[in-house]
Amino acid sequence: MEIDPLLFEHLERRGQSHLFQFWDALDALERARLLSEIQAVDFDRLHGLVTRLVHAEDVDLDIEPGEIEPIDVVRLPETDGERALRRRSAGIGGDMLASGEVAIVLVAGGSGTRLGFEGPKGTFPIGPVSSASLFQIHAEKVLALSRRHGRSIPLYIMTSPDNHEATIRFFEAHDRFGLEHVRCFMQGRMPAVDRSTGRVLMASRSQLALTPDGHGGVIAALASRTAEGAESCLEEMQGLGIKTVFYFQVDNPLVRVADPTFLGLHREHESEMSFKVIERLEPEEKLGVIVRAGGRPRVIEYSDLTPELAARRLASGALALWAGSIAVHILEVAFLERLSRDSQLPFHKAIKKTPHVDDRGVEVRPEAPNAVKFEQFIFDALPEAGRALVVETDRASEFEPLKNAVGPESPATVHQRMSDQFGAWLEQAGAIVSRRSDGSVAFGVEISPLFALDAAELKSKIEPGWVVERPVYLR
Ligand code: UTP
Repeated sequence: MEIDPLLFEHLERRGQSHLFQFWDALDALERARLLSEIQAVDFDRLHGLVTRLVHAEDVDLDIEPGEIEPIDVVRLPETDGERALRRRSAGIGGDMLASGEVAIVLVAGGSGTRLGFEGPKGTFPIGPVSSASLFQIHAEKVLALSRRHGRSIPLYIMTSPDNHEATIRFFEAHDRFGLEHVRCFMQGRMPAVDRSTGRVLMASRSQLALTPDGHGGVIAALASRTAEGAESCLEEMQGLGIKTVFYFQVDNPLVRVADPTFLGLHREHESEMSFKVIERLEPEEKLGVIVRAGGRPRVIEYSDLTPELAARRLASGALALWAGSIAVHILEVAFLERLSRDSQLPFHKAIKKTPHVDDRGVEVRPEAPNAVKFEQFIFDALPEAGRALVVETDRASEFEPLKNAVGPESPATVHQRMSDQFGAWLEQAGAIVSRRSDGSVAFGVEISPLFALDAAELKSKIEPGWVVERPVYLR
């Protein structure tokens, strides 16, 4: 097999002809693999990204700070009247679940480099007492909700080519945790490039260094057909009568999956894309910030906010741009369909350590971040939504993602937050739970979603006055 001169010339014009540097030493199979990987890349688009995100000076925010204002948010209910309205919304959301018009999309295609765990992050044992995996906890919530509302709720899981097979095997080994409908679908990949030259890195002499294209890749992945004649996930959803998708990310075990109140609010506002937010307490808190920019809602990454904007305060002393996204969304299927057809979300850069082979074909395991990866973010769909809704939730009860091996957002902090939350549920149900002087629960407390999905359900299942003094797992 010879190199196609036109293809070679095209790559040369884009500064990427080194991808063929080991060609003469490759066997037929390796050549075929390399060629198919090269042919799958849009080098013109890649060139644009390298010019904009690798070679250009860091671009400042593309909008004047004066044009950025706080976004309207449905705040936590404070009065009896507001609580009654929330109950009405919960009823509407419950009806949506019971009528079978809601599916769940869990994105789990990330590489989990910071956690450094072998295998898909969803298989990480996170239960503070049971060591249940993230996947088990999420799946049990879906099963418990299905039982509560008398309707099987389909679960769609986005994987990447790196963890697809392992994810499928894990679900099969656990009989899909009792769920009727689980479908794993694969996201796309983008080449990683050298952060100083913009040249595509090679994973081996015959492979490009390809990395998942970000959680925003979910839009294209939901719309793509894997095989000839196969339905895309969106087509399947439409066939099943699903109108609305609850989206969340694999690393947060506290998420209230398909929260009926959130679903109901989304429907009542006729929203196409809804966001759950928590109040940012510190200017440097690492959460995307939802704002109104030039009149339109959008999310600005924490790293793109100028320090002045991040720290701008209201007369009350609270941060002006306080709405921090916890990556929990509801999207209309028709909106996803429209996005997949008519729009392309922008790419962002992430600077990461990426192993590769050098120009001599020698393996390099970098000590420091050496590569730029290109990723799309789901929240960039917000400005495209005809109507959008932002709903506040309480940080302690719904957000503690597993990102790192140690320190903040690590197994230790997630265990503590889960035990604190379940301890609070037990107290609300009338139990007495030992706490340390700082208020944290002193040992592991865990409640399977199949035992109780919330504090109200727990109340009917335990004896008031129960004294909890040692690790407990209710299942
Ligand atoms: P993160 O941004 O935390 O990335 O993903 P990550 O890849 O899991 O971890 P690091 O940055 O390498 O340490 C947030 C969520 O988005 C999903 C992840 O699986 C996680 O649920 N995600 C991220 C994808 O599904 N695909 C991607 O390409 C990136």
